[in-house]
Amino acid sequence: MIQQLTRHKTVEQLQSEAGSRGEFRRVLGVWQLTAIGIGAIIGVGIFVLAGQQAAVNAGPAVVVSFIVAGIGSACAALAYAEFSGMIPVTGSAYTYSYAVLGELFAWIIGWDLILEYALIVAVVAIGWSGYVQALITQLFGAHLPVWLQGAYDPANPGSGKVFDVVAAAISLVIAWMLTIKTEWGARANTVIVVIKVIGVLLVIAVGAFYVNPANWHPFVPPLTHAADGTSRFGWAGVLAASSIVFFACFGYDTLTTAAEEAKNPQRDLPRAVLLSLAISMALYIAVSLVLTGMVPYPQLNSAAPVDSAFKALHLDWVRGIINVAAVAGLTSVLFAFMLGAARIWFALSRDGLLPGWFAHVHPRYGTPHRPTAILGLFSAVVAGFLPIGEVAELVNIGTLSAFIVICLSVLILRVRRPDVRRGFRSPALWLVAPIGMLFSLFLIIGWPWVTGGQFHMIGGLARITIDRFVVWMAVGLIVYFAYGIRHSHLARDD
Ligand code: ALA
Repeated sequence: MIQQLTRHKTVEQLQSEAGSRGEFRRVLGVWQLTAIGIGAIIGVGIFVLAGQQAAVNAGPAVVVSFIVAGIGSACAALAYAEFSGMIPVTGSAYTYSYAVLGELFAWIIGWDLILEYALIVAVVAIGWSGYVQALITQLFGAHLPVWLQGAYDPANPGSGKVFDVVAAAISLVIAWMLTIKTEWGARANTVIVVIKVIGVLLVIAVGAFYVNPANWHPFVPPLTHAADGTSRFGWAGVLAASSIVFFACFGYDTLTTAAEEAKNPQRDLPRAVLLSLAISMALYIAVSLVLTGMVPYPQLNSAAPVDSAFKALHLDWVRGIINVAAVAGLTSVLFAFMLGAARIWFALSRDGLLPGWFAHVHPRYGTPHRPTAILGLFSAVVAGFLPIGEVAELVNIGTLSAFIVICLSVLILRVRRPDVRRGFRSPALWLVAPIGMLFSLFLIIGWPWVTGGQFHMIGGLARITIDRFVVWMAVGLIVYFAYGIRHSHLARDD
């Protein structure tokens, strides 16, 4: 039994699987790969969640929340970089854990990633909807009926919103586009990413002239307790916000989907992972300082906070450009994660852990159309009916768990397989990987904190998020023991 659960693919097996398929042309260099990384990293986290979290949890100190989340993500990025330089194949954390921890862990991570990626599509679709609606209102003065503008939010029951029709529609459109064509190509991606980065730079460059330092005081607004038992602001709020804005700090994991098209993957993938995160984090720090300096932070609580800040200062011409850049930029995130989810699902089915029916390739378009259609529908329903914050929390717990496993795996592989050639060796891995694991854990459960001799845990994700995640993982285990353990292709060799 134990043998079955820990059966694994060897590093050499994975490397040769990648080489033997040879379906793709190797055309991507380090800058194109970095553009793919930025394409998936910069999105709702900065365009939506930064402003909202400043308004409800952290105030101007949301920049500190970004730094805390960024440290955890940077440690995991170093682990990813070492892996991608060693096993440059598609499939992300799923493939890596298959090589190191064995089948059961690989399944758990694969199952976790499918849900997480599908929910990322939902979160980004909700953000996309906010900016598209802002743009339409700005250009044509038109609004959708209130009940179709967004999902019902229990935190704001009187809003009249019921269903986010734009978010649901874009999820379906992306699934359809990915069915008829695998990707929109690295060149189109690079153009979109350039537009997105120009938008972000414009926010910083123009916004900086309108910063009023008085808006940065108090930097950490005082802790407040609401009647319903929830608390906001204070350092607890800053740390709670870091568990949410963590959403902004990943996406480089989807870079492995381009592993088989990279010219020199062992050298360039690790570089692109680190470069794309470093560039994104630098932009986030600047944007969060500028936004909270432009307007008093409570004004940033909207579906399109960057738009709200520029609107409040009557900067309409910049607003238009930024909204277009945001919509284009969010579209690249949608593509990256929908594609990632479909590929991981496809890989699980190809390896026999899920029925082969899902691995069926469309006869005309050559794409894994069945997982893509199911994912599109699932994301559409979630995006239509759930508020953004709740879904983002669920995504984050999934990603943070995957990060813990990746940090652990890279350490184990150093001990077990010191001989494998590494295109990149993480510096101080014995420090970096444990820090990555600890930060990820604290971003989930909260941070230990002592005040007045009393021990508390502060920040962290909502209890309900942790419960939902546990239920999803329990379902995953049932599926594995009912199906995967017997049908896995590795089982044939036992
Ligand atoms: N990091 C990506 C975003 O913020 C998922 O949208």
